[in-house]
Amino acid sequence: MLLPISSEISSEGHLIIGGCDTVELKKKYGTPLYIMDIATIKNQAREYKKYFNFPDIDVDIIYASKAFSCTAVCELIKNEGLGIDVSTGGELFTALNSGFPPEKIFFHGNNKSIAEIEEGLFSKAGYFMVDNLQELEILDRLCGEKKIKQKIMLRITPGVKASTHKYIQTGQVKSKFGFGISGGTAMEAIEKAAGSKNLELTGLHAHIGSQIFNLSSYGKLIEIMLKLIKEARGKLDITIPGLNIGGGAGIKYVPEDKPSSIEDFAATVSGALEKYQKEYGLRLEKLYLEPGRSIIGNAGVTLYEAGIIKEIKSIKNYISIDGGMSDNIRPILYQAAYTAFLANRMNDGQDTKEDMKKHYSIVGKHCESGDVIIEDIKLPPVISGDLIVVAATGAYCYSMASNYNGQPKSSVVAVEDGKSWTWVNRETYKDLIKGDKRLYEE
Ligand code: LLP
Repeated sequence: MLLPISSEISSEGHLIIGGCDTVELKKKYGTPLYIMDIATIKNQAREYKKYFNFPDIDVDIIYASKAFSCTAVCELIKNEGLGIDVSTGGELFTALNSGFPPEKIFFHGNNKSIAEIEEGLFSKAGYFMVDNLQELEILDRLCGEKKIKQKIMLRITPGVKASTHKYIQTGQVKSKFGFGISGGTAMEAIEKAAGSKNLELTGLHAHIGSQIFNLSSYGKLIEIMLKLIKEARGKLDITIPGLNIGGGAGIKYVPEDKPSSIEDFAATVSGALEKYQKEYGLRLEKLYLEPGRSIIGNAGVTLYEAGIIKEIKSIKNYISIDGGMSDNIRPILYQAAYTAFLANRMNDGQDTKEDMKKHYSIVGKHCESGDVIIEDIKLPPVISGDLIVVAATGAYCYSMASNYNGQPKSSVVAVEDGKSWTWVNRETYKDLIKGDKRLYEE
């Protein structure tokens, strides 16, 4: 699955998503345009609930809102009955704005400011995911002053180096996140948290990284974390009831990608839990996981209009689109690969003879040579005005968008059952200068 599950091709060869013709969406909303398919988001949330329904342990699925955070997405996630992971005061604010039940909010962050901690406490966020000793002390003190008993989990660095891009590995020993096990900091934090009358230690958390295809890293993670829970029981005579295993499955960006299914991911987790609980003589009450990309990644596409077509004879052909690294930073940041289609001529891709197709680089409009969305793709000859749709842009594109080169952020539209409507308005030039002041204005 690369395109959203509701995708079809119309008799005119147009790409249809959620019953809406992308050619019409272009006319109605302009481009670049993030199109979000509600059916795919619901389907993914439900797959998680279905396969992570284990007989002997209660499981909480928590959507990692860093993948895509806006009020409507939080509302949809709330309606699907999932919890939500927020990692800053801003994501917390957005979740609360959607009416998200505070008790289902998991507040992450490796450098929460005092103001953010206060915001979390004031809004009664369910769980603080504590990253370091300083945070633990501050939270303990603030809760004491406010006479609050706050549920927390401790973020542990398990020392598992998962095979994914190094910028999105997080579980290795030298990671900036969490309490290390080998140096003894994790045990020290567990002791402090368990001994505090202001904090309730509900579980340990670990996240080893994102876009991980090799499930064996999860087996290793569960083994290490359960061993730590057992050691804490032995040393401190405490029961830690929950384990949070962090982010979810990887997704398909290009046809060659082979991510695991949610079903296989669940089977690995369940198998490892059973094995290591038995081995360490433990019985957890709760398992938590925080998928982001696999809930929303394939639900989204970005629609662009092809502008200048530049053919450097016998060297390279460029299709320039009306967005680029400002709406999708992932290729330049992580060398991420993507797939594109001609949304207004979907059948031409299949009907055009291979030797009639051309190799193109799809490039953005920004002042950087690295502003390339797809380095090499074979398409039927493209002309200005064609619609290029890039698949699997639902996660970490809108949420990482910028105004580089004064590009207003693109709008986000939702599609479902033949209807489309705006989730986030397109920014205007005025939005670009809304915080600006005159040279010597006070
Ligand atoms: N939980 C924690 C604590 C996380 O740090 C993350 C992602 C997740 C859950 C969700 O992981 P997922 O299910 O989406 O794999 N910007 C990068 C990805 C950074 C991920 C950061 N943490 C990208 O575009 O690939």
